[in-house]
Amino acid sequence: AKQRGVVKATLTAAAHDVELVAGQTTPMWLYNGQVPGPLIEAFEGDRVEIRFINQLAQPSTIHWHGMPVPPDQDGNPQDAVPAGGERLYQFTLPKGSAGTYWYHPHPHGDTPEQVYRGLAGLFIVRAKDDPLLSFSEQHWVISDLKLDAEAKIPDNTANDWMNGREGQFVLINGQHQPVMNILGRQRIRIWNACSARYLRLAIPGQKLTLVGTDGGLLEKPEIVPEVLLVPGQRVEILLGDGKAQHAELKALIYDRQKMGRVAPEVERTLAKLQFNTGAVPNTPKLLRKISDPGKATALKKVEFSETMSMENGQHTMSFMVNGKIYDMDRVDLISKAGEVEIWQIFNNSHMDHPFHLHGTQFIVLDSELEGKRQNAPYRALHDTVNLRPYETLRIKVVQHDKGLRMFHCHILEHEGQGMMAQVKVI
Ligand code: C2O
Ligand code: CU
Ligand code: CU
Repeated sequence: AKQRGVVKATLTAAAHDVELVAGQTTPMWLYNGQVPGPLIEAFEGDRVEIRFINQLAQPSTIHWHGMPVPPDQDGNPQDAVPAGGERLYQFTLPKGSAGTYWYHPHPHGDTPEQVYRGLAGLFIVRAKDDPLLSFSEQHWVISDLKLDAEAKIPDNTANDWMNGREGQFVLINGQHQPVMNILGRQRIRIWNACSARYLRLAIPGQKLTLVGTDGGLLEKPEIVPEVLLVPGQRVEILLGDGKAQHAELKALIYDRQKMGRVAPEVERTLAKLQFNTGAVPNTPKLLRKISDPGKATALKKVEFSETMSMENGQHTMSFMVNGKIYDMDRVDLISKAGEVEIWQIFNNSHMDHPFHLHGTQFIVLDSELEGKRQNAPYRALHDTVNLRPYETLRIKVVQHDKGLRMFHCHILEHEGQGMMAQVKVI
């Protein structure tokens, strides 16, 4: 008999002093005192029960980024857990939900600060018939951290609020420029958990074998020179060929068209890679079938934009979705549960913005930029995708549960200032 598993965990958000710089303490806000927060692993079909204890001095929620959990369990801003409060999140992971996810706070307006002070953790959902089961795995969560001269985490500056906060330290699993040991050929899951930093990842001298995106495996492996991982996104790659050698994981220069006077982008070494001899399982030619959800019968239009205004002699930016700033009491769009929709998302702005939709995975159909239309190169499941300035993306979306879902820019400072809207699924 098939027995459904139950995965139980307790996540306590609280202030902790951490020694990140030798001899100095950095006050952080962490889940269970860990950087990053605990990894939660479950199988498709499992029941998940997570007790959240909020020991912060402000309201918070836990949002299960990318996961198909019911809206009332998804940490919406409307469902904040007060300071000192607690609640139970519970959901069952449906068939087909295997993928690489993460969780982070989503309270109204305070998401950027709660994340940059350290609150974020990892969630992996596995399929029992995973075709890559013979590969051993590594998890690389990339975050960045801004520290002042006393190793404290400073508040956002005006520039951070405008362009999104980027820390001077880019960390992998909480460490600065670690050495990663790869044994034989391994499956590496990579998260971009930065508030705003774009990661154009490459290993000079090597091609990458891309096997998965946010919502799990591709249909077949794709050999690519680099991957652009925008805030909130994840990928799975296969690395190593069983020969001993050194390499470096780089973040190449990417110009996301920040505003105002900003420091020039620089290439960074994120990690030293030590490849070692070890098992080299065969890479399957086919990973899985991603079925087309069918013909779309509804169209939704979304536009990201920003405007500059003068307030008391100060320039302030407003970041908007469909011309409006987020209002948690307003319904912006209505969708029907189970209906196949095309969402046409237009970035009417001169900077890049990563679009994220809660509660489901979508397929990118095509993009249009400067009059040129391009089909997505391969079928993949995403919950977060980048939009270049003035680019239009068309995605295919199905929401399965009734309730309120957010969609927003995943540069958290933009989200926090209102570049977010909500769809009510009826
Ligand atoms: Cu990762 Cu609405 O967020
Ligand atoms: Cu999300
Ligand atoms: Cu944005």
